[in-house]
Amino acid sequence: MIKAGIIGGSGYTGGELIRLLLNHAETEIDFVFSTTRAGKPIASAHQDLLGLTDLGFTGQINPDVDVVFLCLGHGNSMKFLSENTFATKTKIIDLSNDFRLRENAAFGGNHFVYGLPELNKEHIKNAMTIANPGCFATAIQLALLPLAKDGLLDNEVHINAMTGSTGAGIKPSETSHFSWRNNNISWYKPFTHQHLGEIGESLKSFGNQIGKLLFLPNRGNFTRGILATAYTQFEGSLEEARKIYDDFYSTSLFTHFSDEPIHLKQVVNTNNCHIHLHKHEDVLLITSAIDNLLKGASGQAVQNMNLMFGFDEGEGLKLKAGVF
Ligand SMILES: NC(=O)c1ccc[n+]([C@@H]2O[C@H](COP(=O)([O-])OP(=O)(O)OC[C@H]3O[C@@H](n4cnc5c(N)ncnc54)[C@H](OP(=O)(O)O)[C@@H]3O)[C@@H](O)[C@H]2O)c1
Repeated sequence: MIKAGIIGGSGYTGGELIRLLLNHAETEIDFVFSTTRAGKPIASAHQDLLGLTDLGFTGQINPDVDVVFLCLGHGNSMKFLSENTFATKTKIIDLSNDFRLRENAAFGGNHFVYGLPELNKEHIKNAMTIANPGCFATAIQLALLPLAKDGLLDNEVHINAMTGSTGAGIKPSETSHFSWRNNNISWYKPFTHQHLGEIGESLKSFGNQIGKLLFLPNRGNFTRGILATAYTQFEGSLEEARKIYDDFYSTSLFTHFSDEPIHLKQVVNTNNCHIHLHKHEDVLLITSAIDNLLKGASGQAVQNMNLMFGFDEGEGLKLKAGVF
């Protein structure tokens, strides 16, 4: 068994990591660090875990753990690592955007590898430090990477994606308040969302020309999941597009192609990404769906941990969709 530490344990992604690691055959949770709940039981923040663990939150880290997950807001991971030191053997998986862009990847003598297994699996296996991708970024990259690889993404790409309220973290805000969010939808940060940086870097990593990415993020009237649609000009047939996606994802454990149109509930509570293609005249519509807290965050973080330690890639991630 390896020993894991979680920083930011009372938040949404921290809670999901605790739930996943409690059921992981190769990992034992050593500590769950919290700035606000030290000394209290885990179930004081994550009530569903009542009776499932004796663990409590702690105000101290154990620097000797084998792996540590940073589940902190943007900027706080860099600050935390500047103020705390872990053993040289400790592998670090950061869920914020502090180290995702290439210009920020070098920190404290480490190089953070971008943790999207469908793109970077071999690098992840050898990494000591991982920058886990953003949730929108995961859904959108998985929708577009196969076209980017084959040099077929050189026209404008229009992207629309809707996220649940957990995407904004546990701290209430005006737009995550029940009265505002319920029976409501809205867009935000039109064409300027911060995930465009990491999406652009990955799509360009194959060396092919990439068209303009026009991304409109939306807030949905639900708690978890992301449904993303992207469309662009594509001269080939639907069968040709399908083959490109089949080839790209032939060895992917969690990204699956669907011949039927997809919806959110088929992936919520799982680490899966489902993808569907639709062709209309010379336009290809790509739809992808993920759970923002699993494939978009903590599930992908555990998938990365599995790869880094040589465990079965799917260990601890054989989950059941809510469906209804
Ligand atoms: N939510 C998602 O769907 C999602 C998806 C992908 C990536 N992410 C990224 O993952 C990170 C965590 O997201 P989240 O949704 O779990 O956020 P969250 O629910 O707001 O939790 C973050 C936790 O960090 C701790 N914290 C807050 N301020 C801190 C500070 N100044 N110093 C140290 N710790 C502090 C708090 O835990 P304690 O009170 O226990 O210390 C807080 O609950 C973010 O960078 C986010 O962008 C989130």
